[in-house]
Amino acid sequence: MIQKPVFQLPPLALYVHIPWCVRKCPYCDFNSHAAGPNLPEEAYVDALLADLDSDLQHAYGRPLTSIFFGGGTPSLFSAKALGRLLEGVERRIPFAGDIEITLEANPGTFEQEKFAAYRRLGINRLSIGVQSFQAEKLKALGRIHDGDEAVRAADMARAAGFDNFNLDLMHGLPDQSLEDALGDLRIAIAQAPTHLSWYQLTVEPNTVFWNQPPVLPEDDTLWDIQEAGQALLAEHGYAQYEVSAYAQPERMARHNLNYWTFGDFLGIGAGAHGKLSTPDGSISRTWKTRLPKDYLDPAKQYSAGERVLTVDELPFEFLINVLRLSDGCAAELFSQRTGLPLEHLAEARAQVEQRGMLHKDPTRLAATREGQLFLNDLLQYFLP
Ligand SMILES: C[S@@+](CC[C@H](N)C(=O)[O-])C[C@H]1O[C@@H](n2cnc3c(N)ncnc32)[C@H](O)[C@@H]1O
Ligand code: SF4
Repeated sequence: MIQKPVFQLPPLALYVHIPWCVRKCPYCDFNSHAAGPNLPEEAYVDALLADLDSDLQHAYGRPLTSIFFGGGTPSLFSAKALGRLLEGVERRIPFAGDIEITLEANPGTFEQEKFAAYRRLGINRLSIGVQSFQAEKLKALGRIHDGDEAVRAADMARAAGFDNFNLDLMHGLPDQSLEDALGDLRIAIAQAPTHLSWYQLTVEPNTVFWNQPPVLPEDDTLWDIQEAGQALLAEHGYAQYEVSAYAQPERMARHNLNYWTFGDFLGIGAGAHGKLSTPDGSISRTWKTRLPKDYLDPAKQYSAGERVLTVDELPFEFLINVLRLSDGCAAELFSQRTGLPLEHLAEARAQVEQRGMLHKDPTRLAATREGQLFLNDLLQYFLP
């Protein structure tokens, strides 16, 4: 007889969404909106704390292992506002001793004193959105900063006391050659970030690029960029550990690793998503009111919805996360996170192993190189 495994409550993280930017980039489909002249940061901090109050019952005594301020452009907020928010959060949910607190920052918003003040608040990691260092590419992407400002941002981050920072770069940009893309990577590597997120540009519905598509590199060039870029990053000590994430040893993004290992997270702020478990093993997805003006409207609720995942959905939901990781995960994590026996996966697992997409290792769940290249096809086998 198959024993029902014991479900364990996973670690708990907090995502905080800040939905404003200086202006909207033409490729971006995130819930971000051009900020008017007066950023309602005090009202927004009040709303975030009230939103967190309505989520507190999900913590079950767990400390926060990481906090991520994402956006939008959280670096538009003053250190005073973020300080009040962090204090309010810690009063409600204690922080783990080694908590990682990351803030997304745009190089066009860097001021030395502001970043030093962020560091003093306990924010100990920055994620700087560079995208490219080339003037012509930055212009095509509608960015508010130039390449020099991006280089200066990394210097300022270090001077402000951030020894742990990520640079976001994109490739497959309009008219980008292999040399252009490698040039961007070389400049990024020269800043010695601890982490590099290297995304291939995708053209998303509801963006300016979708309606006026730019000329993007051919598939052959995209393939060459991917291969040569990965080799260059590896040569400089950046190990790929996820589809788009590269890190120096011991510097993987702990907040993101929690997503990719199907950990729990509270999501507060306009449009923020959460994933939460109960001690009896029920797992839900939650989402908040999307538009900032509605989120800030006292007549409206913060929660816009919540859905308990069915047993049939859990294998796909678990694997869509862990199989993004280059090394996948220990097979036993499946039972710990979902409360389901590993046998639940057996049939589909055998099929994808047979097709060479999953490693034939009973102790791990990890996609082969083939499986990583065709992850969507692999995941189809685990659909309800
Ligand atoms: C939510 S954005 C926040 C970063 C910050 N607002 C900035 O842009 O400086 C996170 C990252 O997603 C990436 N990104 C956004 N839109 C993308 C797209 N259409 N294709 C690929 N990557 C994208 C960018 O690298 C961006 O830095
Ligand atoms: S600054 Fe970042 S979040 Fe804002 S529109 Fe541009 S890519 Fe999107």
